[in-house]
Amino acid sequence: MNQWTKTGFSTTAVHGGEIRYNEYGAITTPVVQTSTFIFKSTEEIRKLKQGVKGRYEYGRYGHPTQVAAENKLAALENAQDAVLFSSGMSAITTALYALLNTGDHLIITDDAYKRTLDFCKVCLPRFGIESTVVKMGDYGAIQRAIRKNTRIFMSESPTNPYLNIMDLERLMEIFRKRKDVVIISDSTFATPYNQRPLEWGVHLVTHSATKYLGGHNDLMAGVVLGRKALTDRIRNYLKITGGCIDPHSSYLLIRGLKTFELRMQRHNANGQIVAEFLERDKRVQRVYYPGLRSHPHHGVAKLQMKGFGGVVTFVVKDDTRYVHRFLGRLKFISIGPSLGGVESLITHPASISYYLCTKQQRLKLGIRDGLVRLACGIENAEDIIEDIRQALG
Ligand SMILES: Cc1ncc(COP(=O)(O)O)c(C=O)c1O
Repeated sequence: MNQWTKTGFSTTAVHGGEIRYNEYGAITTPVVQTSTFIFKSTEEIRKLKQGVKGRYEYGRYGHPTQVAAENKLAALENAQDAVLFSSGMSAITTALYALLNTGDHLIITDDAYKRTLDFCKVCLPRFGIESTVVKMGDYGAIQRAIRKNTRIFMSESPTNPYLNIMDLERLMEIFRKRKDVVIISDSTFATPYNQRPLEWGVHLVTHSATKYLGGHNDLMAGVVLGRKALTDRIRNYLKITGGCIDPHSSYLLIRGLKTFELRMQRHNANGQIVAEFLERDKRVQRVYYPGLRSHPHHGVAKLQMKGFGGVVTFVVKDDTRYVHRFLGRLKFISIGPSLGGVESLITHPASISYYLCTKQQRLKLGIRDGLVRLACGIENAEDIIEDIRQALG
């Protein structure tokens, strides 16, 4: 915890974690672009190994630009510690490997990020770790899934693409008596600006920092945040598995975070305005956005969140040719699989993320042909609306 956890969000975002009063007097944190750190004598190595003097040794074990970014993120999430990784998936897989053992059991919600689900359903069982997938929003199913050997509960909020919201108070009540279960929330779609699950009792938060935290569609990174007793175990595992973030990406993340609050305010405003426009438009069958009263989790979203982000999911005609024509007619909204950057992106889950699934498999997961996910950037809302209006035809 540092002095920047009590300041306003933008003050923390600008100043938190920065390496100031460095050798050159540079106001920005230096990009310490090195893979190795040299020693003046073997005596220095001895002091490091015996814990007499902390310092850097080798890039995979941590470097100054990474630590500056970690400290900024920890201050923003109000977390004791943060560990950065080379991607969101590296953060998730390393955390799960570090905390689970053969014979353990994990519970995960069914609309988690597809690759996270793949990891739990395909990779973990190879090491004797079983997963139970429960329906998001079915709290009875979570209760029933708990076993003696359950060690992790993992979910996201909001989820992709339907933006379902986990009721964190209800969730923590279910696990109140099970102190041996670590609750992990992937908060990528919420960000620490809109929701801080650690303050609701969740033990670990993960983010794909590739999204809103980086914010400019120009870096890959992931982060795990929470109590040091847990993050130390994960950091030690990272030193072996090696999914470390490089100095340049760490710097881009630091730079992106300085405007985090401003960007989030615009993402939130754009999401709400565009969702309301889509709900009024007759060519759109259904809109999913937690800031709309029509969203099934609007009540809990209002209670837990400051804003609802830039992602808006909607259904147009269930006709792939129509959807492809709509996407092809967009002028500046680009077709692409990410979210949370300054540029608006749009994706058609049926033909991008779920391309390899049969139609039947897709429908079982609720992925209709007419389903579209728009990630509003920070452009002007009226321009985003105009681009969609003309493309709907
Ligand atoms: C909710 C969520 N978690 C994790 C990830 C994985 O992050 P990355 O792409 O940075 O590995 C994604 C990527 O889209 C995501 O949407």
